[in-house]
Amino acid sequence: MKLVLASNNKHKLSEFREMLERTDIAILSQSEAGLELEVEENGTTFEQNAFLKAEAACKALGIPAMADDSGLVTEALNGEPGVYSARYGGEGLNDEGRYRLLLRNMENTGNRNAMFVSAIVCVFPNGDVLQARGECRGVILRAPRGENGFGYDPVFYIPELGRSMAELTMEEKNAISHRGAALVKFRKIFEEYLKEEHPC
Ligand code: IMP
Repeated sequence: MKLVLASNNKHKLSEFREMLERTDIAILSQSEAGLELEVEENGTTFEQNAFLKAEAACKALGIPAMADDSGLVTEALNGEPGVYSARYGGEGLNDEGRYRLLLRNMENTGNRNAMFVSAIVCVFPNGDVLQARGECRGVILRAPRGENGFGYDPVFYIPELGRSMAELTMEEKNAISHRGAALVKFRKIFEEYLKEEHPC
């Protein structure tokens, strides 16, 4: 079965390919599928945004399409930056600008609890939808630590490991990350789905 990943992110593509290794599913990138998509991510949940991207790709190509959406959720800021994680503070900020804004906005709060969330959704031409969510809990530091990873990794601390996400190797991060957890769950759901008969 051919399936397209509605993303231009090469890193995500290799993670998804690795996840579906040893199945007879070939994951095409958007460019391999000849797909140019501009989807407005105006959902209020990660699942809704992933669904919007996957549905648009599935409709455009007529083959099953997967998409993911992820971000950082904090307790003190009522879930912010949440679905706005990639555009927190507006267009002018880079990763560092965004996490520094988060640190400023949380300056006066003692509640540092936060989690990374990843939602994966797959839409089939017959209308079937599969979805999985992964979470990774931690606390927001008061200053950045570490050089690895991306996004909010330098300010996200995992108490059980005694390190920030940016102090982990890629392998260590994959083992505990929200995306890793969502991918493991998704693979199980997907394998179950493939065992059934589907007109897609
Ligand atoms: P998207 O799912 O590609 O739209 O990414 C959403 C945003 O959430 C990213 O731009 C990052 O700011 C943040 N984010 C998602 N996953 C991670 C992660 O593993 N580490 C750090 N930041 C992340």
